[in-house]
Amino acid sequence: MAAHLGYYGCVNYKAILEYQMLLNGLSPDLLSHCMFAPIASIFSNPWNAESNSAASVGVLQDVASPWSGLKELFQVGVWPWFGSSDAMDDQMPWGRGMVTPRPVKGEVQSNPTPDSEPPTERNLPFYHLPVLMQEVLELLQPAPGKLIFDGTLGGGGHTEALLQRGAHVVAMDQDEEALNHASLRLKPYAERFCALRGNFRDFPKVLGEAGISGLDGMMIDIGVSSRHLDAAERGFSFAKDGPLDMRMDQSAAITAADIVNTYSQEELERILRENAEEPQSRRIARAIVQDRVKSPFKTTLQLAEMIARVCPKHSKKHPATLTFQAIRCEVNLEYSALRDFLAAAPKWLKPGGRLLVISFHSIEDRIVKQAFQHQSAAFLDRPEWPAPRPNPDCVYRLLTKKPLEATENELALNPRARSARLRAAERLNS
Ligand SMILES: C[S@@+](CC[C@H](N)C(=O)[O-])C[C@H]1O[C@@H](n2cnc3c(N)ncnc32)[C@H](O)[C@@H]1O
Repeated sequence: MAAHLGYYGCVNYKAILEYQMLLNGLSPDLLSHCMFAPIASIFSNPWNAESNSAASVGVLQDVASPWSGLKELFQVGVWPWFGSSDAMDDQMPWGRGMVTPRPVKGEVQSNPTPDSEPPTERNLPFYHLPVLMQEVLELLQPAPGKLIFDGTLGGGGHTEALLQRGAHVVAMDQDEEALNHASLRLKPYAERFCALRGNFRDFPKVLGEAGISGLDGMMIDIGVSSRHLDAAERGFSFAKDGPLDMRMDQSAAITAADIVNTYSQEELERILRENAEEPQSRRIARAIVQDRVKSPFKTTLQLAEMIARVCPKHSKKHPATLTFQAIRCEVNLEYSALRDFLAAAPKWLKPGGRLLVISFHSIEDRIVKQAFQHQSAAFLDRPEWPAPRPNPDCVYRLLTKKPLEATENELALNPRARSARLRAAERLNS
């Protein structure tokens, strides 16, 4: 046991288990009955546990047998998390390979699913770890008979937790890969779950055509998923070489390469400033335009390395971080989609229904904050008016005066939750 604990170093694995249990709809109280030594031994080498090591598999079954859900916990939560995602592993506080030794060539890997075996709901590779799960559940209060809309299905983590608590969920995502993954994962809930492809800005049309109305809850968890960042071929990551793509909707016409290679210097400077508040917007825009004359930008690393050359690193952040954010927002028209969604949402909520928005950077959070402030102000005032006037757009009571952020426990487990901000509002009766 001591050796296993040493192996984990700074990691509080009880907290990991508690969090994973919550994600999987199990009561963390079960942990008080668990045998920690065997659990620690599974953690110490999950590759072995899944690659037919009789001893480890035996331990897994022993531990799991009293609680059927616990075995599922290991299958869907812990392995993929530690084993399958390089990017996830990189972001863990202990760094790559400290917990899970990377398999050497020729070794059997637990993830991803072998080519010969098509994915099923039980052997899906890691996709995304949902953020602020506890806060989402407390605010949405999913229960049998409630109908909840999830506009950003992603890997299906939030939706699964809502379904596990008995709610009906109608979900959307513009990314076909996300829809396929989550639909497979959520197959056991097919009677209470429906996934629709599309941009959440179009949800009134999509839900209207599906004959759905009167929602008890709505949520969007905006931005990209871990899968987007991990899959080099999607072109979202400045750390992995791939085509300059960045489309969440892969059928969309405009890619990042189109923007980088065709926008004028002024347009590039504007999107860097407006979409990401990049302080070096002028310098980067000028450098892009000068460089693309020699040869058009085709790959993510070509762009990231050029930016690193013209803007030396001043902080922990890669110098291309904000440029990638700005281009991604332009490709996917992210801010206008968010504004349209926020304007349309109130009409679809029942009185007492709740809207939750999780955002990941300050510009998005500001859009949500301003919309919520306006939609929850009983009166409006302007200097030219003799007195404040009733606000015809007042439809909400705010549930979060300040945005909720991830706790230290969650951050220790999922550093990508660091910038997540959750705001929530409740539909008034009128
Ligand atoms: C952060 S992930 C959501 C993760 C999800 N909550 C979970 O538990 O796995 C964001 C997802 O929203 C999708 N998305 C982002 N903007 C969207 C939009 N405007 N319309 C539809 N889907 C969108 C992305 O394709 C991505 O799959």
